[in-house]
Amino acid sequence: MNKVLLIGAGGREHAIGKALKEGGAKIYAVMKHKNPGIARLSEDYIIGDHNSVSFVKNLEWVKFRKVDFAFIGPEDPLIRGMADMLEEQGIPVVGPKKNAAIIEGSKEFMRDLMKKHGIEGFVDYYVFTDAKRVEEFLRAYEKPFVIKPVGVTGGKGVWVMGDHFHTKEEGIAYAKKVIEEKIGGEGKVIIEEKLEGEEFTLQIFTDGKNLKGMPLVQDFKRAYEGDKGPNTGGMGSYSMENHLLPFMDEKDYAKAMKILEDIIAAMRREGRIYKGVLYGQFMLTAEGPKVIEINCRFGDPEAMNALSILKSNLVDISWSIIEGKLKEKIEFENLATVVKYVVPEGYGTKPLKGEVIKIREDKIREKGALLYYASVDEKEGKIYTTTSRSLAVVGMGENLEKAERIAEDALQFIEGRVFSRHDIAKSSMIQRKIEKMKKLRET
Ligand code: AMP
Ligand code: GLY
Repeated sequence: MNKVLLIGAGGREHAIGKALKEGGAKIYAVMKHKNPGIARLSEDYIIGDHNSVSFVKNLEWVKFRKVDFAFIGPEDPLIRGMADMLEEQGIPVVGPKKNAAIIEGSKEFMRDLMKKHGIEGFVDYYVFTDAKRVEEFLRAYEKPFVIKPVGVTGGKGVWVMGDHFHTKEEGIAYAKKVIEEKIGGEGKVIIEEKLEGEEFTLQIFTDGKNLKGMPLVQDFKRAYEGDKGPNTGGMGSYSMENHLLPFMDEKDYAKAMKILEDIIAAMRREGRIYKGVLYGQFMLTAEGPKVIEINCRFGDPEAMNALSILKSNLVDISWSIIEGKLKEKIEFENLATVVKYVVPEGYGTKPLKGEVIKIREDKIREKGALLYYASVDEKEGKIYTTTSRSLAVVGMGENLEKAERIAEDALQFIEGRVFSRHDIAKSSMIQRKIEKMKKLRET
């Protein structure tokens, strides 16, 4: 009864596929390039555009309903209505339909929803479609601000004052460019107040009514050590054995959870039943958690933190989501996790494509680490870089120090023109975060 169509080709989908297989499922994968990790665990796979609704619709597995349900990893197919199409074909889906995936598809929709329903964690925001208007507004605006294209840019179109630009003039020029060059596809820009604090991720499973939280994760978007360089899809992430973060307590967790509950309830009131995984990206500020972004899927790398320590069966969870009966307790091991991505040299600006990576899988396993493949090409038994993140190692341990050590040890067995962020989850970094948050809360 458990043939699962797995859609997506990244590290996140490798982690989802592995957890489903461990839960007893047979995996039938659709991926735009051959992810060797997914290929190995699948009964069968097809290489093709996994974002294209018509491509997937025409697969035999879908046309003749040869799978029991589908699990959709990335946002693109969800935003385009992949879940709607599959359900019309009689295949239930873990992943929201188009009218709910819009929570990620439009940052304006998300902010409007929170405002309309008076949901906590709200951020001041202003939307513009006219380059002149945004310029006038910003000339008069006195607080530090952030510029975001309204559409989806994979986190890479966002400019933060003090990080990506320093003067108001630079900010104005970029905001106008977003409108004029339709960055994000819509010719619309959002200006937000800049939040100060520490970022964190809370992922949940939901059937549209019930929510089950996962361990908190902190991920690192900047390409280089010390949080420098361009924004990326995420260079690595960590979670702690108590499922909180070093600078966060249970009260903060509960507040973030309440915000996500309110969002799911507001969606339901609007007839947007949200089924699947929802990802809340927050800033923990002196006043508590505030929403930076809501995504309609697992995070990547954050999926690897959560799924590597999932004790419950992901196949059972999937059926509970589909059937609207997500009542049972979902359990995670009390282990810390550290994910470190290995990316091509030049990643973030001009990635070196087509370089060989040598991976000693046996040695990595001996160190007790997990290996998840992401965007690589496999040809004649060799692995090559593409322009995206190549693969990730995950260390797990009874505390963060041990988990970090295991991830670092594993990295030695990966060779090639690639790099990683060695500072992620090191104790000096964690200490700085604790102190920063303490100071912020005191003022
Ligand atoms: P997003 O694509 O919305 O996730 O934004 C990418 C990154 O920009 C986030 O991970 C934050 O580091 C930063 N960011 C986004 N919005 C804000 C904000 N309102 N205040 C401060 N930083 C922000
Ligand atoms: N790690 C960021 C994301 O998945 O959106």
